[in-house]
Amino acid sequence: MESKINVLISEEEVDKKIRELGRQISRDYAGKELHLICVLKGGVFITCELSKNLTIPVSMDFMSVSSYGEEQVSSGMVKIIKDLDDSIEGKEVLIVEDIIDSGNTLRYLIDLLNSRKPRSIRICTLLDKPERRRADVAVDYVGFQIPDKFVVGYGLDYKQKYRNLPYIGAIE
Ligand code: IMP
Ligand code: MG
Repeated sequence: MESKINVLISEEEVDKKIRELGRQISRDYAGKELHLICVLKGGVFITCELSKNLTIPVSMDFMSVSSYGEEQVSSGMVKIIKDLDDSIEGKEVLIVEDIIDSGNTLRYLIDLLNSRKPRSIRICTLLDKPERRRADVAVDYVGFQIPDKFVVGYGLDYKQKYRNLPYIGAIE
Protein backbone atom coordinates (compact mmCIF):
# COMPACT_ATOMS: atom_id res chain seq x y z
CA MET A 1 0.00 0.00 0.00
CA GLU A 2 1.36 3.41 -1.01
CA SER A 3 0.86 6.18 1.54
CA LYS A 4 -0.03 9.71 0.54
CA ILE A 5 2.90 12.12 0.92
CA ASN A 6 2.44 15.85 1.43
CA VAL A 7 5.29 18.03 0.22
CA LEU A 8 6.84 19.92 3.14
CA ILE A 9 9.96 21.28 1.43
CA SER A 10 10.06 21.27 -2.37
CA GLU A 11 12.87 19.95 -4.54
CA GLU A 12 13.76 23.52 -5.58
CA GLU A 13 13.97 24.70 -1.97
CA VAL A 14 16.16 21.75 -0.98
CA ASP A 15 18.51 22.27 -3.95
CA LYS A 16 18.80 26.00 -3.26
CA LYS A 17 19.53 25.43 0.42
CA ILE A 18 22.25 22.87 -0.30
CA ARG A 19 23.92 25.29 -2.72
CA GLU A 20 23.87 27.95 0.02
CA LEU A 21 25.34 25.52 2.56
CA GLY A 22 28.05 24.62 0.02
CA ARG A 23 29.01 28.25 -0.42
CA GLN A 24 29.08 28.91 3.31
CA ILE A 25 31.14 25.80 4.11
CA SER A 26 33.58 26.57 1.26
CA ARG A 27 34.09 30.05 2.73
CA ASP A 28 34.50 28.76 6.30
CA TYR A 29 37.12 26.18 5.26
CA ALA A 30 38.92 28.37 2.69
CA GLY A 31 42.57 27.32 2.40
CA LYS A 32 41.87 23.99 4.12
CA GLU A 33 40.92 20.49 3.07
CA LEU A 34 37.69 18.99 4.29
CA HIS A 35 36.96 15.34 5.12
CA LEU A 36 33.25 14.60 4.77
CA ILE A 37 31.80 11.76 6.80
CA CYS A 38 28.54 10.61 5.31
CA VAL A 39 26.21 8.86 7.74
CA LEU A 40 24.55 6.06 5.78
CA LYS A 41 22.07 5.52 4.44
CA GLY A 42 20.07 8.74 4.66
CA GLY A 43 23.06 11.06 4.50
CA VAL A 44 24.05 9.91 1.00
CA PHE A 45 21.76 12.30 -0.85
CA ILE A 46 22.84 15.49 0.92
CA THR A 47 26.50 14.39 0.97
CA CYS A 48 26.57 14.01 -2.83
CA GLU A 49 24.79 17.29 -3.53
CA LEU A 50 26.74 19.22 -0.91
CA SER A 51 30.11 17.92 -2.09
CA LYS A 52 29.34 19.04 -5.65
CA ASN A 53 28.86 22.55 -4.29
CA LEU A 54 32.15 22.71 -2.37
CA THR A 55 35.04 24.60 -3.95
CA ILE A 56 37.69 23.42 -1.46
CA PRO A 57 39.55 20.07 -1.75
CA VAL A 58 37.31 17.31 -0.36
CA SER A 59 37.73 13.69 0.62
CA MET A 60 34.94 11.53 1.94
CA ASP A 61 34.24 8.41 3.92
CA PHE A 62 31.11 6.54 4.93
CA MET A 63 29.82 5.19 8.18
CA SER A 64 26.67 3.27 8.96
CA VAL A 65 25.05 3.37 12.36
CA SER A 66 21.64 2.30 13.48
CA SER A 67 19.59 3.87 16.20
CA TYR A 68 16.09 2.96 15.07
CA GLY A 69 14.65 -0.40 14.15
CA GLU A 70 11.59 -0.13 12.01
CA GLU A 71 10.10 2.12 14.67
CA GLN A 72 9.44 5.84 14.43
CA VAL A 73 10.87 6.39 17.93
CA SER A 74 14.56 6.47 18.87
CA SER A 75 15.67 3.54 20.98
CA GLY A 76 18.54 5.63 22.35
CA MET A 77 20.89 2.82 21.40
CA VAL A 78 23.49 3.22 18.68
CA LYS A 79 25.19 0.36 16.87
CA ILE A 80 28.03 0.65 14.34
CA ILE A 81 27.10 -1.31 11.24
CA LYS A 82 30.00 -0.07 9.13
CA ASP A 83 32.98 1.87 10.45
CA LEU A 84 35.08 4.38 8.49
CA ASP A 85 37.70 3.02 6.07
CA ASP A 86 40.30 5.71 6.77
CA SER A 87 41.93 7.39 9.76
CA ILE A 88 40.62 10.87 10.61
CA GLU A 89 43.64 11.87 12.69
CA GLY A 90 44.58 15.50 12.03
CA LYS A 91 41.73 16.02 9.56
CA GLU A 92 39.05 18.70 9.42
CA VAL A 93 35.98 16.52 9.70
CA LEU A 94 32.44 17.42 8.72
CA ILE A 95 29.79 14.87 9.67
CA VAL A 96 26.92 15.02 7.18
CA GLU A 97 23.51 13.87 8.39
CA ASP A 98 20.05 13.79 6.91
CA ILE A 99 18.25 14.69 10.13
CA ILE A 100 18.91 15.33 13.80
CA ASP A 101 16.07 14.24 15.98
CA SER A 102 16.85 13.22 19.58
CA GLY A 103 20.54 13.82 18.86
CA ASN A 104 21.43 10.44 20.41
CA THR A 105 23.08 9.11 17.24
CA LEU A 106 25.17 12.20 16.77
CA ARG A 107 26.20 12.48 20.42
CA TYR A 108 27.56 8.95 20.21
CA LEU A 109 29.29 9.57 16.87
CA ILE A 110 30.95 12.80 17.99
CA ASP A 111 32.36 11.18 21.13
CA LEU A 112 33.63 8.19 19.15
CA LEU A 113 35.22 10.27 16.39
CA ASN A 114 36.75 12.77 18.82
CA SER A 115 38.67 9.91 20.43
CA ARG A 116 40.38 9.40 17.03
CA LYS A 117 42.05 12.83 17.20
CA PRO A 118 40.73 14.79 14.22
CA ARG A 119 41.87 18.44 13.98
CA SER A 120 38.23 19.54 14.18
CA ILE A 121 34.71 18.13 13.95
CA ARG A 122 31.67 20.02 12.75
CA ILE A 123 28.17 18.86 11.94
CA CYS A 124 26.04 19.54 8.88
CA THR A 125 22.45 18.34 8.68
CA LEU A 126 19.77 18.87 6.09
CA LEU A 127 16.99 18.81 8.70
CA ASP A 128 16.79 19.55 12.39
CA LYS A 129 13.90 18.85 14.78
CA PRO A 130 14.97 20.99 17.76
CA GLU A 131 11.83 20.19 19.79
CA ARG A 132 12.84 16.55 19.99
CA ARG A 133 16.41 17.06 21.21
CA ARG A 134 17.45 14.96 24.19
CA ALA A 135 21.24 14.79 23.79
CA ASP A 136 23.40 17.89 23.97
CA VAL A 137 24.82 18.48 20.47
CA ALA A 138 25.90 21.68 18.76
CA VAL A 139 25.00 21.65 15.07
CA ASP A 140 27.08 23.96 12.89
CA TYR A 141 25.22 23.88 9.57
CA VAL A 142 21.47 23.33 9.35
CA GLY A 143 19.44 23.26 6.14
CA PHE A 144 15.97 23.53 7.63
CA GLN A 145 14.49 23.43 11.10
CA ILE A 146 11.24 21.49 10.98
CA PRO A 147 8.42 20.80 13.45
CA ASP A 148 8.02 17.47 15.21
CA LYS A 149 6.68 15.49 12.23
CA PHE A 150 7.90 12.24 10.72
CA VAL A 151 9.32 13.11 7.31
CA VAL A 152 10.54 11.14 4.31
CA GLY A 153 12.45 11.83 1.10
CA TYR A 154 15.90 13.11 0.19
CA GLY A 155 17.46 10.12 1.96
CA LEU A 156 14.91 9.76 4.74
CA ASP A 157 12.91 6.56 4.83
CA TYR A 158 9.86 5.03 6.34
CA LYS A 159 10.49 1.27 6.51
CA GLN A 160 13.24 1.69 3.88
CA LYS A 161 10.96 3.38 1.36
CA TYR A 162 10.74 6.94 -0.01
CA ARG A 163 14.47 7.72 0.28
CA ASN A 164 14.54 8.53 -3.44
CA LEU A 165 11.94 11.32 -3.32
CA PRO A 166 13.67 14.53 -4.48
CA TYR A 167 11.73 16.60 -1.88
CA ILE A 168 10.92 16.37 1.84
CA GLY A 169 7.44 15.09 2.54
CA ALA A 170 5.26 14.09 5.46
CA ILE A 171 3.24 10.88 5.40
CA GLU A 172 -0.47 11.57 5.72
P1 IMP B 1 18.38 10.67 16.50
O1 IMP B 1 19.44 9.78 17.03
O2 IMP B 1 17.13 10.60 17.29
O3 IMP B 1 18.83 12.11 16.30
O4 IMP B 1 17.91 10.08 15.12
C1 IMP B 1 18.69 10.12 14.03
C2 IMP B 1 18.17 9.19 12.94
O5 IMP B 1 16.80 8.83 13.10
C3 IMP B 1 18.23 9.91 11.63
O6 IMP B 1 19.51 9.85 11.07
C4 IMP B 1 17.19 9.18 10.82
O7 IMP B 1 17.74 8.01 10.27
C5 IMP B 1 16.13 8.79 11.86
N1 IMP B 1 15.00 9.75 11.86
C6 IMP B 1 14.71 10.69 12.79
N2 IMP B 1 13.61 11.40 12.47
C7 IMP B 1 13.19 10.91 11.28
C8 IMP B 1 12.10 11.26 10.39
O8 IMP B 1 11.28 12.17 10.61
N3 IMP B 1 12.00 10.51 9.26
C9 IMP B 1 12.86 9.51 8.95
N4 IMP B 1 13.90 9.17 9.73
C10 IMP B 1 14.06 9.85 10.90
MG1 MG C 1 20.53 9.04 9.61
